[in-house]
Amino acid sequence: MSKFLIAPSILSADFARLGEDVDAVLAAGADVVHFDVMDNHYVPNLTIGPMVCQALRDYGITAPIDVHLMVKPVDSLIPMFAKAGASIITFHPEASEHIDRTLQLIKEHGCQAGLVLNPATPLSCLEYVMDKLDVILLMSVNPGFGGQSFIHQTLDKLKQVKALINASGRNIRLEVDGGVNVANIKEIAEAGADMFVAGSAIFNQPDYKAVIDEMRAELAQ
Ligand code: DX5
Ligand code: ZN
Repeated sequence: MSKFLIAPSILSADFARLGEDVDAVLAAGADVVHFDVMDNHYVPNLTIGPMVCQALRDYGITAPIDVHLMVKPVDSLIPMFAKAGASIITFHPEASEHIDRTLQLIKEHGCQAGLVLNPATPLSCLEYVMDKLDVILLMSVNPGFGGQSFIHQTLDKLKQVKALINASGRNIRLEVDGGVNVANIKEIAEAGADMFVAGSAIFNQPDYKAVIDEMRAELAQ
């Protein structure tokens, strides 16, 4: 896998023609499909579940699918998403009674596992599970909606998490989600992120390739 991964959030895609839109964004150079699952309980919005993930696989999408679970409880959905073709499954620690068990469950089902930290969630929940993490996702907005502005304090938090990852000696992806765009992607990368979720910044533009190319150009500087 390359150093930097661009993961368009399909929350901002055209749900009426989702397969085509996901195909288009991958053809435009995206690396990973970011799949936002919201339950109107853990977050105040309702989106898509395992059937839609399966539908994308059946449509022929072969790129990694990064399932971001904003649901509570978490565990019952993990086998379903693994079966439906998820590659990575991440969840919020507040939404699981037993964080270590949930991480193990994801791995037992053959997926990469990660924790998602909201803007106000402290880093302490990472302490005893670093050995089980493939991804750490820092939310740079409060979860629930696309199109919000990047919360600037995330930059400091990214630096702290990057130091923890370096100290662990493990190869853990540092993903950032919310308000990422061409104008800020470079400073986010400089703070330590290597996987960038972007929804509205990509799907709200007519030319996905132009946006992704601009993001890569920023990352290459
Ligand atoms: C928010 C979601 C994000 C979001 C990103 O809860 O997890 O993935 O859709 O959208 P933008 O890039 O528009 O902030
Ligand atoms: Zn997300």
